[in-house]
Amino acid sequence: MRITVHPSSREAASSAAEELVAQAAGGGLHVLGVATGSTPQPLYRELAKHRTPGLADLTLFALDEYVGLPEGHPQSYRSVIERDVGEPLGISPSRIHLPDPVAPGAYDAAIAAHGGIDVQILGIGQNGHIGFNEPGSGFHSLTRVTPLDASTRAANARFFDSIEDVPTHAVTQGIATILSARRIVVFAFGRAKADAVAAAISGPRTEQMPASALQDHPDVSWVIDEDAASLLPPALRSNLGRAVELGASL
Ligand code: F6R
Repeated sequence: MRITVHPSSREAASSAAEELVAQAAGGGLHVLGVATGSTPQPLYRELAKHRTPGLADLTLFALDEYVGLPEGHPQSYRSVIERDVGEPLGISPSRIHLPDPVAPGAYDAAIAAHGGIDVQILGIGQNGHIGFNEPGSGFHSLTRVTPLDASTRAANARFFDSIEDVPTHAVTQGIATILSARRIVVFAFGRAKADAVAAAISGPRTEQMPASALQDHPDVSWVIDEDAASLLPPALRSNLGRAVELGASL
């Protein structure tokens, strides 16, 4: 696990965007797993500055989608990903995949049929969720429909007129689906994420902290700002801008 602490989300996003663009140019990035929410927005803005044919040819698989929003709703994750990633990078909607609550299992099959996800972008919830795998989700879970925690609906109410408008369920890649990506890049910005970041990286591996499942993956990069890093052991949050490998001694 590699951890890089940046002074700001913009610097974090800019360095991650450069790495992804280089990976795409080198032929190692064809299928990108994309997250929604606020956290990856700086990355998408930075990627848009590098708009290249290599990026336009990407195939995108979303992490999750709300259940029950009408088609074309501006907060549906299809709308968000088409608007914030597809249009700026020139990726056709036909290359953008989202899980279907009616046939969730087909999503894992579709990912496999595309050769798997080369790089999965993740955010992390304040409760440690990844995708919409809330605490208690099995580490072997696959794509499925799941209820959203009250705290997740409250956190996402900012995107809707009121909390009553936030869907109660989502269809999400499972933890095992996420772990099947070849490389995972997790972003976390702000003090509100510090507890979850510290627990996921340096706490026990437990289903009560879904992001701790990432400890099992051979190629995970945490790209975080100083506030999100503030509760990590000091050795992991020093060396601003330089990656620290999580070693057995920490
Ligand atoms: C979004 C997703 C969620 C978010 C998480 C953090 O597709 O799956 O896990 O990454 O809820 O949300 P933000 O970034 O809005 O704080």
